[in-house]
Amino acid sequence: MGEATTNSVRLPQGPRIPKAAMGIAFLTARHRAVATVGKRYGSTFTLKLPIFGETVVISDPVLIKDLFTMSSDLVGRASNLGTVLGPGSTFSLDGAEHRARRKLLVPPFHGKRMAGYEAIVEEEVMRETETWPEGREFETLQPMMRITLNAILRTVFGAQGTSFDELRKMFPPMVPLASRMAVMPAAVRRDLGPWSPWGRVQRYRRRYDEIIAELISEARSDPAFEERNDVLALMLQARYEDGSPISDGHIADELLTLLAAGHETTATTLAWAVERLRRHPRLLSRLTAEVDAGESELLQATIWEVQRTRPVVEATIRVTRDRIRLGEWVIPKDHAIIASITMAHNLEQNFADPKAFKPDRFLGTNPDTHTWIPYGGGIRRCIGASFANMEMNVTLRTMLREFELGTTYAAGERHHSRGVATAPSRGGRAVVYRRKAGSKSTTRSGSERVSA
Ligand code: HEM
Repeated sequence: MGEATTNSVRLPQGPRIPKAAMGIAFLTARHRAVATVGKRYGSTFTLKLPIFGETVVISDPVLIKDLFTMSSDLVGRASNLGTVLGPGSTFSLDGAEHRARRKLLVPPFHGKRMAGYEAIVEEEVMRETETWPEGREFETLQPMMRITLNAILRTVFGAQGTSFDELRKMFPPMVPLASRMAVMPAAVRRDLGPWSPWGRVQRYRRRYDEIIAELISEARSDPAFEERNDVLALMLQARYEDGSPISDGHIADELLTLLAAGHETTATTLAWAVERLRRHPRLLSRLTAEVDAGESELLQATIWEVQRTRPVVEATIRVTRDRIRLGEWVIPKDHAIIASITMAHNLEQNFADPKAFKPDRFLGTNPDTHTWIPYGGGIRRCIGASFANMEMNVTLRTMLREFELGTTYAAGERHHSRGVATAPSRGGRAVVYRRKAGSKSTTRSGSERVSA
């Protein structure tokens, strides 16, 4: 690997493609662009990108570990999502403020609490799959989007009744519009009336804030407030070290963040799971037998392997707050570093036969946190990882219990970038047949309401 050295800075080499051309390649064929450059330059290289400028791309586990464990005084968040999610969003916070917020958010999302949400997810899967057609191919991405949206609204927002109905209608048009605006230059984010894109985002946001204010006031006046276990109620009860609560405005920003970060990512992973399972008939029969036997080890390994081979977030970005050393490289202040999730998952040194879809590789072992990184890592690691894993597990096991999934010899679906997440290009198409044996819930806890 060659390097460029100037004034004690030592950066890896990379293609001399102009920023704009690389930007177009990234927007239109991110997956292929990274794979092509990686093939030529190895696991570490420099890319010139619009917005971020010169960017170091890493995937080697030693460098990934160094980056993820580096102090937040040295590397911080590089994301413009905060501009649309608001100043109280985790995506807008850095350093001490971010650490303090994480302390309050980690307990509500702790793995041990997740079993309490399983019954709600199963109800949403049953509601959505009730109308699935038999013997006719259909896309599963939109159904998965409805399942994960409704699950978050009920378990995280504690929404029910009219607020649940209004929010589940509002988000499908609002979230894609807002995420498109997040990646536009600031000049485009101007309210030019109710029909302009930013004007529409602002209008949605005003109505969203009104609904959240109602949910907050209902929660506070709920006689069972203390016993509730939806994330909104837990955030309202949480206190920073100085005894102060999270302000209502910040709670509204944070709920929107949890929804934006958690709904599409989980749904696209589920659509990929369907896409992979249809093409692996032997695995599918083993999984069905396992679910019928009330076990889950192979299903967990399958979820991990779907995330390894089809990570829906392909990279995570940090920016240096100071000049840093990363392995043999010396990277200047204010420089972007991309940890490429796709490349890390495809390194031969990390996974034998990396292109092959082989869930068995994870049987009897947990994935390593610096080679298997679909949720990123360190202080910025995805807060909703246990939540997403629980949702995917309940959705897939309920599907396998209720349906026989038609298999296919068709070529795998290609990668389609939806902005933040990468989805199967044909929406994870499935053919299903209802299983005749009466269905029996595989959820451990009974159906309990999370909110009052
Ligand atoms: C399969 C589903 C999901 C995937 C693949 C995923 C992936 C990621 C990734 C790659 C990051 C960036 C981590 C980093 O920079 O190191 C992230 C951050 C985050 N995710 Fe997820 N996520 C998923 C589901 C969820 C869910 C269900 C929620 C919440 C309900 C959630 C909430 C968040 C939040 C709040 C952050 C920001 C954390 C911070 O900056 O401190 N995610 N996620």
